[in-house]
Amino acid sequence: MTEPQNTPVPYGTNGDFDTEACNTTNNPVFADVLKTFIERRGFLKGALSAAVGVAVAAKSGELLAKDAVVDELEKSFNDNLAKNIGLPLPTRPTFAAVSTARTPGITVPAGYTARSTFKWGEPITGSYPPYRADGTNTGAEQEQQIGQHHDGIHFYPLAGFDPNRRGLIAMNHEYIEQAYLLRDGAVLTGNRPADDVRKEIAAHGVSIFEVERLANGEWSIVRGRYNRRITGGTEMEITGPARGHPKLVTAWSPDGTRTRGTLNNCGTGETPWATYLTCEENWAGYFVNRDATRPREHTRYGVPSTNSRYRWDTAQERFDCSIKAASAAGDFRNEVNGQGWIVEIDPHEPFSTPKKRTAMGRFAHEAAVFAPPRILQPYVVYSGDDSQNEYIYKFVSRAVHTPGYFNREALAEGTLFVAKFNADGTGQWLALDFNDPAFRAAASAANVTFTDQGDVMINTRLAADVVGATRMDRPEWGAVDPRDGRVYFTLTNNSARTAAQVDAANPRGPNPFGHIIRWREDGDNAAARTFRWDILLLAGSETDSVNFVLGQSARLGADSIHASPDGLWFDAAGTLWIQTDMSGSQQSSGPFGENSMLAMDVRSGVIRRFLSGPPGQEITGVTSTPNLRTMFLNVQHPNENGAGLANAFPDGPGTRPRSCTVIVEKNDGGIVGT
Ligand code: FEO
Ligand code: CA
Ligand code: CA
Ligand code: CA
Repeated sequence: MTEPQNTPVPYGTNGDFDTEACNTTNNPVFADVLKTFIERRGFLKGALSAAVGVAVAAKSGELLAKDAVVDELEKSFNDNLAKNIGLPLPTRPTFAAVSTARTPGITVPAGYTARSTFKWGEPITGSYPPYRADGTNTGAEQEQQIGQHHDGIHFYPLAGFDPNRRGLIAMNHEYIEQAYLLRDGAVLTGNRPADDVRKEIAAHGVSIFEVERLANGEWSIVRGRYNRRITGGTEMEITGPARGHPKLVTAWSPDGTRTRGTLNNCGTGETPWATYLTCEENWAGYFVNRDATRPREHTRYGVPSTNSRYRWDTAQERFDCSIKAASAAGDFRNEVNGQGWIVEIDPHEPFSTPKKRTAMGRFAHEAAVFAPPRILQPYVVYSGDDSQNEYIYKFVSRAVHTPGYFNREALAEGTLFVAKFNADGTGQWLALDFNDPAFRAAASAANVTFTDQGDVMINTRLAADVVGATRMDRPEWGAVDPRDGRVYFTLTNNSARTAAQVDAANPRGPNPFGHIIRWREDGDNAAARTFRWDILLLAGSETDSVNFVLGQSARLGADSIHASPDGLWFDAAGTLWIQTDMSGSQQSSGPFGENSMLAMDVRSGVIRRFLSGPPGQEITGVTSTPNLRTMFLNVQHPNENGAGLANAFPDGPGTRPRSCTVIVEKNDGGIVGT
């Protein structure tokens, strides 16, 4: 659903802040390309299997032959299997799929146990104020408790302990449902009470806490020194090309080097140096700019012109980006420009200042996924812009990977590229680089002026428009196959694409069910400027879907139908996990049951539904212990807008619904997913 841009959300409805459609450009679309798409698949199959010899020694930092790259990945994959997981690895998935039947709780296959834990409101730090079930926890208390609307999650083993029994959890809190968060629900008229706003801001952001597996198999929160809340109000440092930029100057940060808070934290990324990336997605709606003339860095992202989403501006002036003073240092016209970034947090340094990585672009970031790092090669990070007709990006760091030495500022500098998917199965990465002559020429041809690289990054969407990137069906999470480096991305759905606007990479218009696209970088070099792509599957019903691994006439079956794929993750054993985020009627009345998680073997094409959740939620975020015996995933906004509220999840009838983590283990101690 598309958020109404300029109207407050009425009491009793949560609103669905999944997408804020703002792309009014006319970037290329191709008619009648499903045919081209299917023809091209034959071509692609040959192209992908062709070996090309471009070998130079790895030590020199130059490219290995593509087969050698895959050999290198397979070796490290197998080394990890032997070290952490154990061999031989059973062929997966082999569990009996769960059905689409709607139940009030979590359903997992026979032989598995799922436990709800790490719930919204559980105390993790400070004076550990207990959760109060009547909604009366204050803003100050919420700042010491787990936030609402869990999303991306990651588990970090802690040095000195059994890596499969003790570690740190870092997780995002994407947004809130006021009806459950506040004692009296939301009243979105007039001025908001200051402490309600404080509580709402505190329910956003990130929670970090230590956890331990107890002898009885449960996991509990340790009151440890790493525990920390990062919220929509935490001080953050701006790094990269937009640091100190005039468009980041505010009354609070006159030199434009700092900002406050991270908002709408959707998916995650985990760096090779064990820090946490949290991605700011639908942040624009938290602000308002009521000026008659609004700058492009507001309009292209959909900053509202009448009211902010939760009317926080009525309690905290920084959410009002209208011009009020003689200069930017006297007001908050640029406050919203401090949002839209990927933020790097070191969970092992509880007093560290989170860093906004402006070199990685500003858009509705879903998540961030690293290509496997390779010696003396740059780090490569993929991120999608989840809004209708927006783009897929790739960041290539200036720093190179040097084992044993982790450059903690590796994400501060680099080049951002945007993807163009051609109808013939090839693709290009187009640089959004102020110093790149091709970029300058494209901007000039489009009559768009940028002042510097900071301006390009603050206006990333506009920069991608001018180079002619391919408008996608809401790019969500990505995942990289640890065995061969191939990249997969979910495209969740797109109600705005018309039949005349389909293209090879987005072959349905409208696209109610979504699909999963994948590509292989040329030469298997993650930093390559060109790639080859195809589509893994078109999600949908048993009559309107395609599992291309099994052939273009293969449909999804009762065990695997799904819609609106969103979360995506390769575990260390090579299984692709797909999480769904259907909203509205698709979830409540479609053939797909409630939002779920599926496991797929992308090589054999076997795909099965592994878990299904309660009404009104989405399954999002997944991580595991290194041995793959404990899986952590999140249930966000259970019983949204009252769906199934009589059996509130997870605490039962008569309680407030609470987003929470679900821990899944196999009863025989085996690998989850087998
Ligand atoms: Fe936060 Fe695009 O889901
Ligand atoms: Ca959602
Ligand atoms: Ca999502
Ligand atoms: Ca989604």
